[in-house]
Amino acid sequence: MHSKQVQFHVQPGGCLKGEGRVAGDKSISHRSVMLGSIAEGVTHVKGWLEAEDALSTLAAFQAMGVKIERGGPGELTVHGVGLHGLKAPAGELYLGNSGTSMRLLSGLLSGQPFDTVLTGDESLSRRPMKRVTAPLRDMGAVIETTEAGTAPLRIKGGHQLKGMHYDMPVASAQVKSCLLLAGLYAEGETSVTEPAPTRDHTERMLQGFGYEVRRDGDKISVRSGGKLTACDIDVPADISSAAFFLVGASIAEGSDITLQHVGINPTRTGVIDILKLMGADIELLNPRTVGGEPVADLRVRSAKLKGIAIPEELVPLAIDEFPVLFVAAACAEGQTVLTGAEELRVKESDRIQVMADGLVALGIDAKPTPDGMVIQGGRLGSGRVNSRGDHRIAMSFSIAALRASGTIDIDDCANVNTSFPTFVSLAKNLGLNISVTE
Ligand code: S3P
Repeated sequence: MHSKQVQFHVQPGGCLKGEGRVAGDKSISHRSVMLGSIAEGVTHVKGWLEAEDALSTLAAFQAMGVKIERGGPGELTVHGVGLHGLKAPAGELYLGNSGTSMRLLSGLLSGQPFDTVLTGDESLSRRPMKRVTAPLRDMGAVIETTEAGTAPLRIKGGHQLKGMHYDMPVASAQVKSCLLLAGLYAEGETSVTEPAPTRDHTERMLQGFGYEVRRDGDKISVRSGGKLTACDIDVPADISSAAFFLVGASIAEGSDITLQHVGINPTRTGVIDILKLMGADIELLNPRTVGGEPVADLRVRSAKLKGIAIPEELVPLAIDEFPVLFVAAACAEGQTVLTGAEELRVKESDRIQVMADGLVALGIDAKPTPDGMVIQGGRLGSGRVNSRGDHRIAMSFSIAALRASGTIDIDDCANVNTSFPTFVSLAKNLGLNISVTE
């Protein structure tokens, strides 16, 4: 089936009510397979995200000889082969739409004795990879890309990496994680400094597997020569998937929902902070720590939102949530201004342009800028928008229907399966009037 043929149709109005659990955290799910594979012993994972992106990572490690068993929903058993136990795959490793798989694997595979080729779909093949290949080459990795610096990545094995310090020009957890994973195989110490804090799941999980990670101020470092010891992982629900319902319940009058077991790692909670600055009513219930990651149940009731200037320091902490935050801004009173978010232009789609096009098609005054957007809150109309194959855009416009004057039809929605295959059923359960045609 061609992805462009999947359409969502969402009837206007209504509100969200009830309880539910969104899909498992994508970032943590990728890392659980990667680190479980190179650990010694058997790692049990629950709450794992059964979605295309995480499955791309899983298939890549299976292709490199790791035995991974799938149990009940969200359950994995990973039979770790140790840091030096991966085997040459028989063919290319196809990673679909998943930037996290490609960027993190490029670091891990640069340190192996065998060659690998990493490929992806049309969107992933357009995304910038120099941000990882340049520092990896400085560490001694041998990687070929296209002239544009994009995938396929052809990684030559058998080259000893050397640890180094890298001052990251972009705030990117993928770049940081890539280099830390390469650092497990590099001589001496590998360290990075980030221009702003980004999600720290790699650091937390390495420590959970008993591997020492040092943090001095904004410098994070690892040394080679250690080992990872298998452990149990409980993956929290993904705050990036919860975000659609945080916004939906906020904008739809009469809503009252509770989302269970959501990861609230402080490097991910920018969406809650931004929505609260806009006036949202979000309560964190029963906060607890599960396997080194903070988790809570989130209760959200509708509230009158107001436009704000989004503080730039929150941008890396909410980087995946801007598509749906733009919908919140469209429903808020007054103007919302986002700056400092040029990274949005190189995500699964150009999220600034694609969201602006869709909002304008629905009658909202949304002006894209090179590094953000200026949105005047207004009345959402109805019509047809194109997600350009970007999962988070398809889900964001679905949520927008709660405040639209008529039906919203969304094209090219198959990629919702990359991060949140249960979106439509959960959205229906909570009260969204959504249907799918293929
Ligand atoms: C991710 C990091 C983020 C995010 C992506 C997942 C990760 O990318 O957008 O969806 O798991 O490390 P950047 O670190 O490149 O911003």
